[in-house]
Amino acid sequence: MKLEFIQRQTLKDKPTDESKLGFGRIFTDYMLLMKRNAEKGWHYAAIEPYGELSLSPAALVLHYAQEVFEGLKAYRSPDGRTLLFRPWDNIKRLVLSAERMSMRPFDAEFLLEALYELIRIERDWIPKAQGTSLYIRPAYIGIDPYVGIASAEDYYLYIILSPVGAYYAKGLAPVDIYVQTEYVRSVKGGTGSHKTGANYAISLKASELAHKNGFSQVLWLDGRENRYIEEVGSMNIFFKIDGELITPPLGGTILAGITRDSIIAIAKDMGVKVSERQISIDELYDAYKRGSLEEAFGSGTACVVSPVGKFVWGDKEIIPGGSGMGELTKRFYDTLTGIQLGIIEDKFGWVKQID
Ligand SMILES: Cc1ncc(COP(=O)(O)O)c(C=O)c1O
Repeated sequence: MKLEFIQRQTLKDKPTDESKLGFGRIFTDYMLLMKRNAEKGWHYAAIEPYGELSLSPAALVLHYAQEVFEGLKAYRSPDGRTLLFRPWDNIKRLVLSAERMSMRPFDAEFLLEALYELIRIERDWIPKAQGTSLYIRPAYIGIDPYVGIASAEDYYLYIILSPVGAYYAKGLAPVDIYVQTEYVRSVKGGTGSHKTGANYAISLKASELAHKNGFSQVLWLDGRENRYIEEVGSMNIFFKIDGELITPPLGGTILAGITRDSIIAIAKDMGVKVSERQISIDELYDAYKRGSLEEAFGSGTACVVSPVGKFVWGDKEIIPGGSGMGELTKRFYDTLTGIQLGIIEDKFGWVKQID
């Protein structure tokens, strides 16, 4: 399959005020679109003007949610280079998510190369201000016009780009998190460890309730015992307790965050003791009561690292030590953003430069 390029007649105006980018509302001039159907297999791949997709109202994805997606970012280094962070890991995760949702395979190498080409074409859309980046959203949807429950044969695989500011309105200020004890997001054997839209749809109710009560995010507990900490809305979670960095294990119910994996590698490299192990909400509360909960933060592509101000669990509050961002949290933030922006040497081989 050859990657076509379909040029626009006129280019859009780029945002002039980078302090007002927000998140995910502005889209660039072009997108990548690939198409598959039963007769021809994968037969179309083009970087074409950003625009609407043509879909039957019967399209499978609209009824049965056969959809997976990814989220990663392109950065502009201070010396003007265009950098991506571990893009092959996002594409690998997309492949795994698609497998879990019974979707037909695609050529991951081709997709990665097409992504590089799209970024090459759209590099002027990467904002320059601190904390900004170009958010990359690959999505894969089953589109057969068939109202029946079956795996799709027809697909769109596409990538859109959005210049974004800081994820949280308050920037890096600590966020308050509501510990959700009524609803669950994921159970063993389910889809919690994959990036499918359905996981997010089922979490909206709890997020809305949390927002109404002044919380930025929800902390999910395990779906069986409602006891073990899993992850936050769109972040993995870390605690520093008695000098040790603790994060829940990848047991099939939480997303294998690429930021999570990067932080674990950086922590080990710094000589910090890291444990990927189950931690219950009671244990967290006890650690807080003992004065041992030194720091807590979420990790994810959108926010990089987000310190937690407090957790509210029923009528109890759990407040990580110190105020503002913990010292270790800050070191992770500085190291990770430094590598992503090409300021700190990338000894892990995570950064891909687009020439
Ligand atoms: C549910 C969930 N957990 C964790 C993460 C963090 O993953 P990553 O670090 O790969 O962005 C995300 C964000 O994509 C997410 O949606």
